[in-house]
Amino acid sequence: MAIKTIIEPFKIKSVEPIRWTTRKEREQQLRSAHNNLFLLPADEVLIDLLTDSGTGAMSTWQWGALMEGDESYAGSRSFERLRRIVQDIFGYKHVIPTHQGRAAERILFGVMCKKGDVVPNNTHFDTTRANVEFAGAEALDLPIAEGLQPASPYPFKGNMDIDALEQLIERVGAGRVPLVMLTITNNSGGGQPVSMANARAVRAVCQRHRIPLYFDACRFAENSYFIKRREEGYSARAAKSIAQEMFALGDGCTMSAKKDGLANIGGFLCTNDDALAQQEKNLLVLTEGYPTYGGLAGRDLEAIAVGLEEVLHEDYLSYRLASTAYLGQHISRAGVPIVQPPGGHAIYIDARAFLPHVPPREFPGVALAAELYLEGGIRTVEIGTLMFGDSAKMDLVRLAIPRRVYTQSHIDYVIEVILEVWSRKEQIRGLRLTYEAPFLRHFTARFESLG
Ligand code: F0G
Repeated sequence: MAIKTIIEPFKIKSVEPIRWTTRKEREQQLRSAHNNLFLLPADEVLIDLLTDSGTGAMSTWQWGALMEGDESYAGSRSFERLRRIVQDIFGYKHVIPTHQGRAAERILFGVMCKKGDVVPNNTHFDTTRANVEFAGAEALDLPIAEGLQPASPYPFKGNMDIDALEQLIERVGAGRVPLVMLTITNNSGGGQPVSMANARAVRAVCQRHRIPLYFDACRFAENSYFIKRREEGYSARAAKSIAQEMFALGDGCTMSAKKDGLANIGGFLCTNDDALAQQEKNLLVLTEGYPTYGGLAGRDLEAIAVGLEEVLHEDYLSYRLASTAYLGQHISRAGVPIVQPPGGHAIYIDARAFLPHVPPREFPGVALAAELYLEGGIRTVEIGTLMFGDSAKMDLVRLAIPRRVYTQSHIDYVIEVILEVWSRKEQIRGLRLTYEAPFLRHFTARFESLG
């Protein structure tokens, strides 16, 4: 009989203690944080599922590589190593390092967009949208219909709506669409993958209209493994070769190495276009740094180079998707409404369905996140009315799983806490906003309980 249990494909060499708090302490902390978990000191959190960005654990090989970092200002050996690996996986001609993903976004859109332009994406992440808008262009989300239905089990809910893309280009004219972007996996849409067939179809539309296609590649390895598992013809293919096939459809990408780079900081921007690359490097020097380090230390470049190779190991990817799905399946089996099917890096609870007695204007997602902290010291994040205002189509609570950080027993604990809160959901009250900043208000908003 073949062994079926999927275990963490690593053992632990260095441990970081986490601190228990009493319910009374958590009540106090929540009051001081005005019911906004962004305002909590991280030391007061037991299990931190706020984000999977920069919160992963590095391997012994990555720690070893740090020591080899070449800190030369120009011509760093560590950059050459990173460039070789990025070119091998992503295949693009120019590799421009940045301090994180949003710096790559700012440079890309700053160079490619102007006022009056429109940038379609399957779904923009919030910094991506903000950078498109900062460049004076309009950021348009074109997800397929299934992507907006939390209960739909469609396997590629991250896909872009091809008809909507065609119609958009027809309506505004190709001249006003400087690029099309595909976010793999679709973070704001539930961590859902994009299929190779969809990427090919987007490519075909772009080619017909001579519009470049870029990938927001943050979670490219998870997306590749979903394709291996779910798309016909890919089950025998290596995750790396699937990633290579997908990137070959594009003209470049932005990347946050804080996700599938398995690093704590870093990112890069790639393009095949020589003239664009030159303009991008000119901007890079202005704010990030010289093109062979781009706002990073040489040791960071080493950690990312090793991380990009490790993230494509299939024992890692199979464990990664299995452990996220384990959390999703266990709470969903007990009735907790989640975005189906489980995503790659996170589970999203449908807070409107969890708390039907709390209307969107009373922030059901923020209220549920506060309750999960009170019950078990777990920090999550609302993606809904607080983050997007009245235009929010869903109120979700995201449980993002840091890479290689928490064990199965931590996840069992999280499941127990969620089910405890689920059992007394009727008692949870909504919230009233008492302070908001003029933009990106979710980071600093304050709330009062209506209970
Ligand atoms: N694109 C996507 C799809 C992302 O999820 C993120 C970050 C970025 C771009 C920006 O990258 O943080 O390195 O500047 N997402 C994090 C999150 C913050 O929590 O989902 P960055």
